[in-house]
Formats: sequence, C-alpha cells, structure tokens
Amino acid sequence: MATTAQPFIVLDWNRFRPRRVQAVRHRVDSHPLLQLGPLLALARRLQAVGQLRQIGTDADAGTRFVASAADVDALQRIGNAKGWAVLRYVQVDPTYRTLVDAVLDSIRPQVERVDPGMYYRAGFVFASAHHTVTPFHMDVENNFILQMRGHKTLYVWEPDDMATVSEQARDRFHHDRDLIRWREEFRARAHVFELHAGEGAYMPATSPHMAETGDDLSVTMSFTYFTDATRRDAWLHNLHYLIRRAGIRPPAVGSHPVLDALSYQAVAALVGARRIARRVGGRAVDPIHAPYAAPRPLGGTPA
Ligand SMILES: [Fe+2]
Repeated sequence: MATTAQPFIVLDWNRFRPRRVQAVRHRVDSHPLLQLGPLLALARRLQAVGQLRQIGTDADAGTRFVASAADVDALQRIGNAKGWAVLRYVQVDPTYRTLVDAVLDSIRPQVERVDPGMYYRAGFVFASAHHTVTPFHMDVENNFILQMRGHKTLYVWEPDDMATVSEQARDRFHHDRDLIRWREEFRARAHVFELHAGEGAYMPATSPHMAETGDDLSVTMSFTYFTDATRRDAWLHNLHYLIRRAGIRPPAVGSHPVLDALSYQAVAALVGARRIARRVGGRAVDPIHAPYAAPRPLGGTPA
C-alpha cells in the first residue's frame, strides 16, 4: 500500500470533514481497468464467486433493497433495458485490488489527518440502465462515489439529518433497516449532485442516499473504508439498540461526548473479553482491523 504523489481524488482537503457530505472530482475514469472490456471480464470472475448482483427493473426511491444473483449476459443487456447490476467487493480480485489500493492509498494521508485508522477497504462498480433508480438507503462505510461514464443524479443527506432517518432507525440499522423509509419531501433537504465522468461525492458512513440515472448507461464506482470513528459509532449505535430493547431511550450518539467515550470503553472491553474467550476456546477470531472488507452474502450495497 504505497502512497502515490498525485491523489486520484481531488478536493479541498482543508475543507474535508469526515462527517460532512462533499463534492469531489477525480481522474479514475480514464483508468484502463474501468473500461467496459476489463469490467466485463471482472464481472465473469465475480459471477463465479457470487459477487455479481442485480436489482429489479421497477425500483423507485421507496423500494426496499432486494438484490439477486446476476449473470454477465444480464449485465450486457443493461444498456438496452432497465435495472442495474453491481460488481461487489472487487478487491477480492487481485487485479482490481491494486486499483482499490491505488485510489485509497493516494488519499489516505489527507483522510487520516482528520479521520485516522483507515481499514476494511472495498470497491463496488455499478452499471445502471437509463432512467433507473437506486432506492433510498444508507450504508455502513465511508464512501467516495465516483462517476465513470454517463450521468447520474445523486441525492445525499447529511449523516446527522434526523428528520430524514431518525436516531431510533440509526440505532436499529445494523440489525434491521425497516425504519428507514422514503418520503418524497426529503428531496428538498438533500445535497443534489449532477454527476458526469470525472465527478463524484464523499458520503460519510450512514449518509442516506438515492440515485437516478439519465438518458444513457451509467457506470459508477464506490471506494469504501472504515475508520476508528466509523467502528466507534457503529458500536455505540449497537449498544443503544440493546438499551432501547430494554425499554430505555438513550441520548443520541454524539450528543454526550463523555458518555459516548465511557460507553465505547465499556463496549471495547466486552468485545476484547469475548475475543479472548473465543481464542482460549480454540475458536477463530477475525481481525478487528482487517485491511480489506470481507464479502457479505447479503446486506446493504454502497451505491
Ligand atoms: Fe449505497
């Protein structure tokens, strides 16, 4: 993971805030691995390991995410049909892992100045037909979403916009996404990005988002990662989810920094003790700071 001199992603890093949505520019669209031929070859390799998925053709902003297995034939038909396909966790492919590393290594020093501990890297490529909607949802990772081809209108809401997704829904998010519900009036609260090749956005973890394609095929790639802060927030929301199940309404994550710090220390101690117990018991223990994301068979899709 060597650092390159020229970042692939361009923005005013002095204005970069890890918990704020921001427009970016990039120079990844001209990369040889993001041309259609190599992407189709990648799709064949990912299909073989179950990481080529498709979303229904009739989705609208409020549709619940239901991804199903796709094949390369369906991907090739997207240019003439509707719906979209996603090449998931492209970093499992040795060739595309070099792309994920090149892009994220090129911005890692700038990111870690304010958001240390980058880990669990991943890449996702989305091929979307014309006039196709990516339903309203949110994801667990920080996400640089970059347009490679075509046009996409991306709506993103701030990660602390409780009028769009409530604190209760955020606490429940890691277990069930049933409280994340679309309402048409949300559009007025969104950052709206009209993305063409070379343009993109930074979406902090748990920023609600939704996308609509234009008149032609759209190709987008997301570069995602966790940090110390994303892990901390996820653990705190999980703790608050359990507290709510006990009938107690906890304060919002972030509203009481001292309480958050004490809670996080307690959860970290419990997690550490459980990991030691598993190790003593001879059971496998996943690394906390794995450099690359482990592909999930189901769940959210950073789009
Ligand atoms: Fe997403």
